[in-house]
Amino acid sequence: MTSRTQVRTQVCIIGAGPSGLLLSQLLHNAGIDTIVLERQSGDYVLGRIRAGILEQGMADLLRQAGAGARMDREGLVHEGLELCFYGDRRRVDLKELTGGDVVTVYGQTELTRDLMDARKAAGGITVYEAANVAIHDPAGDHPRVSYVKDGKTHEIACDFIAGCDGYHGVSRASIPDSVLRTFERVYPFGWLGLLSDTPPVADELVYARHERGFALASMRSQTRSRYYIQCAFDENLKEWTDDRFWDELRRRLPEELAAALVTGPSLEKSIAPLRSFVAEPLRHGRLFLAGDAAHIVPPTGAKGLNLAASDIQYLSQALISFYRDKAEEGLDGYSAKALARIWQAERFSWWMTMLLHRFPDSSPFDARMQRAEFENTTRSRHALANLAENYVGLPY
Ligand code: APR
Ligand code: PHB
Repeated sequence: MTSRTQVRTQVCIIGAGPSGLLLSQLLHNAGIDTIVLERQSGDYVLGRIRAGILEQGMADLLRQAGAGARMDREGLVHEGLELCFYGDRRRVDLKELTGGDVVTVYGQTELTRDLMDARKAAGGITVYEAANVAIHDPAGDHPRVSYVKDGKTHEIACDFIAGCDGYHGVSRASIPDSVLRTFERVYPFGWLGLLSDTPPVADELVYARHERGFALASMRSQTRSRYYIQCAFDENLKEWTDDRFWDELRRRLPEELAAALVTGPSLEKSIAPLRSFVAEPLRHGRLFLAGDAAHIVPPTGAKGLNLAASDIQYLSQALISFYRDKAEEGLDGYSAKALARIWQAERFSWWMTMLLHRFPDSSPFDARMQRAEFENTTRSRHALANLAENYVGLPY
């Protein structure tokens, strides 16, 4: 019988990505104890290149968590973006169309680093390289989480478990099939992304639809660019040299931008599949799902990180209300409240994906519908305003 040490905390959080770290910091600030369990090392988590667009709500939460100072110093405020459809370029003035709302360009890697630093400064407990994390009795009154570290089995007794362990985590898998419903659409293509220390090709993000497929020109700073091109979902990354990537990107960008593109060696290259996914409900007894554990969006709408933020806002407020006022309404209402905003972001991300990508089985009629959708959207102030409201983030 291996020795099993047991500790207690109020909320055990599984996953030290943006969701888990943000929740832990917000609960800490409210005097609530947490332990975060992460199966990877901190360096591994920081090595993932992910999203880079923050809605106002995410930026405000980061500040509220006491981890927003570097974002305020280094983040880039963007007041608009560009849609480009077979060479037709249309700027979407986010700020004007929404009456003042904007987005902040700040890499998820940096945001995660800032949250890690805040947790460390606060003396927070994050157990990295926690293996075999398992959830016990989530539907009972005394849930527990066990894990293995340095060859020893540890057990955490807690009041609540927050499943912030992403799409491939253990939390959603711990909800019985008889309880859980899932909704999914897998897209017949992926995104090939490249990060480079080159100046961005444009001041704002450019979402381009070309006959050859979709391309996105984004950035992390004035000297670091992030580009994506649509590729086959089973594309072999080894067959994409930097030069081949740059050539394909030039083909898909508007001519003026292609001519201005500054290329350089890739710091990172990766292929991401595109899917829409939602799990319902987001609660099972004392287990709550948040972030990618609960939902996945295609990156076209830049919603993945921002949906995690609204989940964490709702869940942290519900837990704070429970511990401060012994009130359970927030916990009882969490799933429905989070799902209402999740489905709106799923819709927007699906719509942007359908509008801007080349579908292998697309008919000539489908192609005309994409063109008509683009014209309908960019000729109508109301349609553009709706796009802008969704892109900057619907209210929490
Ligand atoms: N035990 C412990 N940790 C786990 C387990 C497990 N069984 N499974 C996964 N994890 C960890 C992962 O290693 C990861 O660090 O949970 C963390 C989940 O983090 P994310 O996948 O980043 O999900 P989330 O924190 O919800 O952030 C969502 O990340 O993937 C992007 O596009 C997504 O921008 C969005 C954001
Ligand atoms: C990014 O910069 O990584 C990014 C920006 C906008 C998106 C997706 C990804 O829609």
